[in-house]
Amino acid sequence: TLPPPPGPPKNTLTKLVNTPAHPFKAPRKNDIRGPCPGLNTLANHGYLPRNGVATPSQIVEAVQEGFNMGNDLAVFVTYAAHLVDGNLITDLLSIGGKTAATGPNPPAPATVGGLNTHAVFEGDASTTRGDAFFGDNHSFNETLFQELVSFSKKFGGGFYNTASAGQIRFQRIQDSIATNPQFSFISPRYYTAYAESVFPIVFFIDGRDSSGNLDLDIARGFYQNGRMPAGFFRANVTTGLNNLDIGSIFEAHPIEPGVNNGTVNSYTLDPDSADFSDFCKLYTDYVTKTVRGLYPNAKGQLLSALNKNLDFFFSSIKDQGCPQVPHFV
Ligand code: HEM
Ligand code: MG
Repeated sequence: TLPPPPGPPKNTLTKLVNTPAHPFKAPRKNDIRGPCPGLNTLANHGYLPRNGVATPSQIVEAVQEGFNMGNDLAVFVTYAAHLVDGNLITDLLSIGGKTAATGPNPPAPATVGGLNTHAVFEGDASTTRGDAFFGDNHSFNETLFQELVSFSKKFGGGFYNTASAGQIRFQRIQDSIATNPQFSFISPRYYTAYAESVFPIVFFIDGRDSSGNLDLDIARGFYQNGRMPAGFFRANVTTGLNNLDIGSIFEAHPIEPGVNNGTVNSYTLDPDSADFSDFCKLYTDYVTKTVRGLYPNAKGQLLSALNKNLDFFFSSIKDQGCPQVPHFV
């Protein structure tokens, strides 16, 4: 029996989170890290198991405790990832590459490949990670970080903030259109790209600082090293589905979902992809296409674990007014 995700914590105030009980330790030789600087940081500070393999409940707990992420957003993102990249029977997810530590494989086409797996959750035009087409979709990329630095100087007064993030997000999309013949920017990646551009502003800035400006050395600490600065206080505000300000980033340069058609500079809109006008379609398509595509005919224990995890996933958006997709049979 799978445990339901944890609820919201009692204390949602800012507080010291880089504590003696949660010191930074660089990952050991076999510890797994991946494309998410937030989860890498939580593992490096022992809010998640330092080996980089965790249950969805541990991830929800850790992002709430370490960064003050709202319960609905935490559950939504965590179960979205677990459903496509995690082992639904053992309840374990790798925050990076595939590992035997998550347990026996289900039948193909499911891969249980961890967060590095391309094109289910992880996707193109990341801020500091390259496109999978170029061979590495998860390691910190110094060239891309330098692009973040120069755009932050040019548009953000030397900081990563809403003004620079809007320009950087658009630039990363333009980079991929111009260089990656297989560039794909459709749902769910379309949403996560914008959300992940906001995360550093709401989660990587110290909770005692209301400037909205992320210092670039601190940004490097999180993105590159998965490290909180000394004395770091988590955010003073809980950020969840209803107050994550994607709009300010999107509106700087609105672009609709689409793909390159096998050649560079061939970006073609995909009218079948969910976009910001329909959040429920993001949810519905994720369940009926992305998840179902990996588990086209699950049976027995796997089927019940799948449906249970889909219930947990839906529980995070039950107030968003979307009808639940019926259980798989
Ligand atoms: C990127 C998963 C929470 C910050 C990613 C990616 C994954 C992921 C798979 C790679 C997507 C891509 O760029 O292609 C998760 C899961 C979470 C979570 C399952 C559970 C709640 C967080 C938190 C933070 C965070 C709490 C901040 C404290 C980021 C950022 C990126 C990212 C900034 C973009 C990195 C870049 O583009 O260079 N996350 N994440 N994430 N995540 Fe997380
Ligand atoms: Mg990526």
